[in-house]
Amino acid sequence: MDSGIKGAPLAAATASGAAGGAPFIRIEDVSKSFGSFQAVRNVSLQITKGEIFALLGGSGCGKTTLLRMLAGFETPTSGRIFIDGQDMTGIPAYERPVNMMFQSYALFPHMSVEKNIGYGLKHDRMTDAQRKDRVREMLDLVQLTPFAHRKPHQISGGQRQRVALARALARQPKLLLLDEPLAALDKKLREHTQFELTNIQHKTGVTFVVVTHDQEEAMILSDRMAVMDKGRVMQVGSPTDIYEFPDSRFVAGFIGSITFFEARVRSVSGATALVEVPAMQTCVTARAVPGLAEGALVTLALRPEKITLSRARPEAANAFSGVVHDLGYFGKDSLYKIALPDGTTVSVNSVNARRSGESGRVAVWEDAVWLSFEPDAAILLTA
Ligand SMILES: Nc1ncnc2c1ncn2[C@@H]1O[C@H](COP(=O)(O)OP(=O)(O)OP(=O)(O)O)[C@@H](O)[C@H]1O
Ligand SMILES: [Mg+2]
Repeated sequence: MDSGIKGAPLAAATASGAAGGAPFIRIEDVSKSFGSFQAVRNVSLQITKGEIFALLGGSGCGKTTLLRMLAGFETPTSGRIFIDGQDMTGIPAYERPVNMMFQSYALFPHMSVEKNIGYGLKHDRMTDAQRKDRVREMLDLVQLTPFAHRKPHQISGGQRQRVALARALARQPKLLLLDEPLAALDKKLREHTQFELTNIQHKTGVTFVVVTHDQEEAMILSDRMAVMDKGRVMQVGSPTDIYEFPDSRFVAGFIGSITFFEARVRSVSGATALVEVPAMQTCVTARAVPGLAEGALVTLALRPEKITLSRARPEAANAFSGVVHDLGYFGKDSLYKIALPDGTTVSVNSVNARRSGESGRVAVWEDAVWLSFEPDAAILLTA
């Protein structure tokens, strides 16, 4: 048995995966029912070796159930799962090249940090010296060497999380499944730990599948993510794909803030479409998407940071007007709620790039303002 995680396989792993090598995990049309209730519906996913892949979705959408099927704690009702080319049907959890880190961490309170990390190695065929080496390596990896002899109650929540991570990685799984790994931490510690988790993953090159219901966490942690709803995968992509190019109202609305407008397609010419937006009392141009038919009803979606506010009518491709209905000042930026004539409220985020007092603001309550946006900034949705 080799002496453990030595780092650096990530680049190689990512390259081979990205170069179109066989996916490391293949989930093929997997469904899971509990009685008459379908918790996971026809999910197909491919996950590359060395990736951090997030499963993101609201409570009860089937994330944990999907993770448990990967681990072998749950059997799919239909469909198949392949890990590293091997069909997992009928393979019990303990024979899979997989480890799972549970939300509660489940550390042994009476054992030291060191003993907790080494616990999983007990039944592996290793000499005492090899086991010691591996534990030392893991302590170093999660930067807990000075705490090796402490008990779990003598370290912080973030440190406990790292002990659980080290224990899960000690047996060198090819795949680590993490169910809400940061949920027990407070906000500040969570942000810090997100970066640590990605660092550790990069050092080891182990493929991580992380379940979270926190959108920002999925964005920060993952190379790619699947957004789930009611047991289905709605969209798969990089954080940028998901945020900037959502392909449904559900995904667009699930991540970040956004305003939806009903619109009708007037014409499509090459990469742009002309759409009529009754709430804006005008026609606007937007980046075309596949499947736009002339005359069809679609949704136009705009994120708050993509809209520019001005007092005077701007010379922009797309402009419409409204009245400041509400205004929140957050220091680095301000959030405006603009009311349109038909009652639609549009959120606009404006960065306070210059130092100025209240007199320097673009607008205050009840001011009439212009809103403008680039054609590329508008998201057209047909689903
Ligand atoms: N053993 C079970 N028997 C019956 N129903 C179950 C079982 N396990 C899960 N479910 C149901 O399946 C659905 C999906 O559950 P799952 O635990 O996968 O959700 P989740 O996405 O992880 O949610 P959360 O974010 O709240 O943890 C839920 O409606 C849940 O009640
Ligand atoms: Mg869950």
